Amino acid sequence: MLFRDRLAESARGHGPIILATDILNGTVQSVVRSVDNLQAHICAVKMNFHILLPLGIDEIREIIDAVHAWGLQCIADIKLNDINNTNLVTSNILYGAGFDAIIVNPIMGPDALSALVRAAHSTNNGIISLCHMSSAEGAVSYEMRAGHKPVYEKFLEWGLKARVDGIIVGATFPDIIHDCKRKVRDRLDILSPGVGAQGGSAKISFASGTDYIIVGRTLLNSENPSETAVSILS
Ligand code: XMP
Repeated sequence: MLFRDRLAESARGHGPIILATDILNGTVQSVVRSVDNLQAHICAVKMNFHILLPLGIDEIREIIDAVHAWGLQCIADIKLNDINNTNLVTSNILYGAGFDAIIVNPIMGPDALSALVRAAHSTNNGIISLCHMSSAEGAVSYEMRAGHKPVYEKFLEWGLKARVDGIIVGATFPDIIHDCKRKVRDRLDILSPGVGAQGGSAKISFASGTDYIIVGRTLLNSENPSETAVSILS
């Protein structure tokens, strides 16, 4: 089954929240505990440099095995962006460790992006490409003009042409989500970080066209993460 289908299947059973496991000084045990606590309310787990850098590949694999045991998907958020060879070696290592998808930065160029997607799809894994970041400053670069268009529209076009599985558009920019959804319809998924701690609203994001929200601190810092997960969606 393709990554996008696996994610959709997981979301049918668990809902559309992707947990960003950004635990400071996270250990295998603390990350797995956060996943265990929230597994009923999340469809996937996103691991950032916070978690990956201090760990070795065996420990990362241990976390991914625990995530998969709940039937959830695992995404490496490394915003990969390099030359073809480096991209492909890196993605191969991450998929080999068990990751189902990787977040990449399309500034690498459309051909390099396509090469990553081809490699991912040949093993039923996925590529998620940045389109418009959630940070307030995201507008400075992602709405910069590239010819007659803002950069995010170019990234969207490249993502569609490369057949990426999803794009990232910040929940803090609902008008951009709406614009992207109008153009992509169901050809790829829109994943939106920025809910809660960064000020974005899940309700407005979904109404604008988001398929999945990515949530970190609002869940990780909650005294009752399950209740918070439910309330985020209500
Ligand atoms: P919080 O704590 O703000 O965490 O809920 C959000 C998570 O998502 C990451 N993040 C992004 N990742 N593009 C990305 O690929 C973005 O625009 C973006 N904004 C936030 C952030 O690093 C954290 O893991």
